[in-house]
Amino acid sequence: MNRDVIIACDFPSAAETMAFLDKFQEEKPFVKIGMELFYAEGPQIVREIKARGHKIFLDLKLHDIPNTVKKAMHSLSALNVDIVNLHAAGTIEMMKAAREGFAGCGHVPLIIAVTQLTSTSEERMQKELLISAGINETIVHYAKNAKEAGLDGVVCSPLEAGMVKGACGKEFVTVTPGVRFAGGDAGDQVRITTPAKAREIGTDYIVVGRPITAAPDPVEAYRRCVREFVG
Ligand code: C5P
Repeated sequence: MNRDVIIACDFPSAAETMAFLDKFQEEKPFVKIGMELFYAEGPQIVREIKARGHKIFLDLKLHDIPNTVKKAMHSLSALNVDIVNLHAAGTIEMMKAAREGFAGCGHVPLIIAVTQLTSTSEERMQKELLISAGINETIVHYAKNAKEAGLDGVVCSPLEAGMVKGACGKEFVTVTPGVRFAGGDAGDQVRITTPAKAREIGTDYIVVGRPITAAPDPVEAYRRCVREFVG
């Protein structure tokens, strides 16, 4: 297992992102680039962060018709990132198409599917999305669909990582946002836990944004995460 902490670099510009990364003189954290930064700066931001030696999770959560997802993944393949993702709700056919987008590429990233966003509660899922199953059942079902489509793993809450591995196998990767230090501010996240508990449950990667980026000392907050999660 490659247990690691991924920092969600949710910044509005390249300048702020680089100023943040400059604080890390002794380590090269695994970095997540999401929609905020990618839409502001385009693919060049990926190249720049990669050139600094960081591993990259490109979190664009694709969700479209299979042909469009396949072509979009093919475009992203030129960026040589380490993890990409898409929504499992787009169907097994769409997830298979995502993998086809990397056919013939020398380097294929881990391709993972979002099950249910960690900001979604069971109540909202049932009331607003009309999914009548429970949230755990839905997450495990979506994870099995992702496995059937040939994907490498899923994004879920650390609280669900054990269940997912139980259903899909130990090697099936879990990448888990929704992480807060004990007593920390949850913000808009709902299904949350601490780095130490995430380690106990056995997830592979935790994705941590505001508890590190908004901390008075981000490097110390990152190191605390690594201590608690990686050990
Ligand atoms: O600041 P915070 O730690 O809540 O950041 C979590 C990050 O993980 C955000 O960038 C968010 O977009 C992402 N994410 C998530 N839930 C998912 C998938 C991705 O919170 N299911």
